[in-house]
Amino acid sequence: MFERVEEAAAALRSRCGTPPETAVVLGSGLGDFADTLADAVDTPYGDLPHWPVSRVIGHAGRLVVGNVVGRAADTVLDMALDTAANGRAGGARGTRIAALSGRVHAYEGHDFGTVVFATRVLGRLGVKRLILTNAAGGVNSGFAQGALMIIDDHINLTGGNPLVGMNDERFGPRFPDMTEVYSTRLRRMADAAAAAIGVTVSHGIYAGLLGPSYETPAEIRYLRTIGADAVGMSTVPEAIAARHMGMEVLGISCITNMAAGILPHPLDHKEVMETAARVRGSFIALLEGVIERL
Ligand code: HPA
Repeated sequence: MFERVEEAAAALRSRCGTPPETAVVLGSGLGDFADTLADAVDTPYGDLPHWPVSRVIGHAGRLVVGNVVGRAADTVLDMALDTAANGRAGGARGTRIAALSGRVHAYEGHDFGTVVFATRVLGRLGVKRLILTNAAGGVNSGFAQGALMIIDDHINLTGGNPLVGMNDERFGPRFPDMTEVYSTRLRRMADAAAAAIGVTVSHGIYAGLLGPSYETPAEIRYLRTIGADAVGMSTVPEAIAARHMGMEVLGISCITNMAAGILPHPLDHKEVMETAARVRGSFIALLEGVIERL
């Protein structure tokens, strides 16, 4: 695994130059953020050695390195100053990041080591902060469809763990601490960014399940009882692997639907994609606000 990770990291280094210190993984229907980056180098996953490719609708599968220029939060004055300073709008301003549009999931049949391959490549590239985003079902009935939830902690119910097997100390320790998977510092930064742009965010616990079937209403009642506010099929393995490597993690869920049994209609992936599309603007503005504060 280590050698394959290093090969992919080397390929990315030669394509994209100086590696960014921040990376964002974009969840179902949230991939558009990658298109907002300036001076971007766009790499389809298929062009990177050993990189697993997802076939889920809404997971395009490309890695974009570019600058966050904060257009969504820009004022006319900012644009004018920027143009004066750089000779063109956008210019050299902004924070360089890597945006991953598309991820692989264990429910596709990948083992958990494959699921966290990209996370490990980012870690070996020198990424220090990883922002994991996802589409999730709202378990907390106080949430509205379309709400954005900062993940305070997770419950791993995937039935697996990416660190099972021989431990490679070059990634991290055998028994990594998980007391603060989601960085308090980054969560506060997300709150500050949300307040500054007038986007309402909630906080809560994300339960990570294997999928691909959605949960039953009984499972949702169980998840609520054990303290979950949202449920999804990603993020948890990546967060564990990222903490193993010492990266700081921020998690943001888009509550694309209320979880099974809360509303009187069945769940479907189309609803997930439609809600994600509807919150696109505030989601992108929140990401930009967080990244500008890093
Ligand atoms: N359950 C699990 N995963 C999900 C859901 C859900 O309701 N919505 C989006 N991803």
